[in-house]
Amino acid sequence: MSFGVKGPLKRAQKLKEFLNKKKLIDNYLVPLRTKNFIIFPINKKILQKNLPLKDFEVVKQTFKKKSFQPRNLKQALNGKISRSGMEHLISSFDIIGSVAVIEIPEFLKGKETIIAEALMQVNKNIETVAKIVGEHRGEFRVQPVKIIAGKKSLNTLHKEHGCQFKVNLEKVFYSPRLSTERKRISQLIEPGEKVGVFFAGVGPFAIIFAKNSDAEKIFTVELNKDAFDLMDENIKLNNVEQRVQSFFGDVKKIVPEKLTHKLDRVVMPLPKGGENFLKEAFLSLKSGGAIHFYQFEEKESLYDKPIEKLEETAKKFNKKIKILRKAVVRSFSPAKVQVVLDVLVK
Ligand SMILES: C[S@@+](CC[C@H](N)C(=O)[O-])C[C@H]1O[C@@H](n2cnc3c(N)ncnc32)[C@H](O)[C@@H]1O
Repeated sequence: MSFGVKGPLKRAQKLKEFLNKKKLIDNYLVPLRTKNFIIFPINKKILQKNLPLKDFEVVKQTFKKKSFQPRNLKQALNGKISRSGMEHLISSFDIIGSVAVIEIPEFLKGKETIIAEALMQVNKNIETVAKIVGEHRGEFRVQPVKIIAGKKSLNTLHKEHGCQFKVNLEKVFYSPRLSTERKRISQLIEPGEKVGVFFAGVGPFAIIFAKNSDAEKIFTVELNKDAFDLMDENIKLNNVEQRVQSFFGDVKKIVPEKLTHKLDRVVMPLPKGGENFLKEAFLSLKSGGAIHFYQFEEKESLYDKPIEKLEETAKKFNKKIKILRKAVVRSFSPAKVQVVLDVLVK
């Protein structure tokens, strides 16, 4: 039960103006209207003698709550979790299609349902919320996650740069944080280039290149059969069958058999372990080709190790390298970031 001020419907405007002026209206509750009267909910009790007109009356009343649509996670969680918890959360989730993948810090463990429901309340496209339960694992780089709210499925359709990708987060890697890189590289591709995408996953680099450049042909290599099958579906879904050719298998095996000295450009999106495939990258390139090399590196030493590894391999191939660009792509852990080096090989 709350307090309200009742007045004749024909004086509703005057009553509202008076209550507004005194900042008395309770905006979380819905005013009650009958045939002849209106009752505005108020946020504190006032005395009858303080009302300006005789036909206005202070009453006790039950009001309906207004439905509230928060604009962002911060608003949705206001008062429900601590400010420092909030700041951490805001930068710690990804949305892949209809699935939100979130990192829940230990100190917010008891709040995970509240957080998941708030995410779904704010973003109506989210149907499933999953929390990260481990690091990206093994050769296939799949991240272990556990569904904490919504639909019990990690199968989704993700959209990026006008392309669509079927993804199953239980079985394959996908990171929307590489989206800017995919677009950036597609803008470097010259008409007629042959481009290789090693470690292609479900195909985002290759398909975005096909849709956003005049590359003649894009060759992909992927070892995870689930990712490879989804990539083939995605190639068809995006109508790029004529320009994207996929190879299932290990880069170490496919490159010598199918791609030796065939490519103008090769992309290596395997920041953990990609250094072990530099030999294959050099082997796949024509003279004057380019490598986009990704690595996780300590913040202090950023590019020293990757440059050293590139130079070592160049020496073995009797080639020279020129670093065209080096940059941080995204943060990875408190001490490490993902870097990219664009390298010309001559
Ligand atoms: C970090 S994920 C990147 C996937 C994709 N490029 C993307 O951005 O979504 C690395 C991928 O490389 C694949 N992979 C790992 N080792 C491989 C190898 N030796 N040959 C081919 N693919 C490999 C994994 O299965 C995984 O799908």
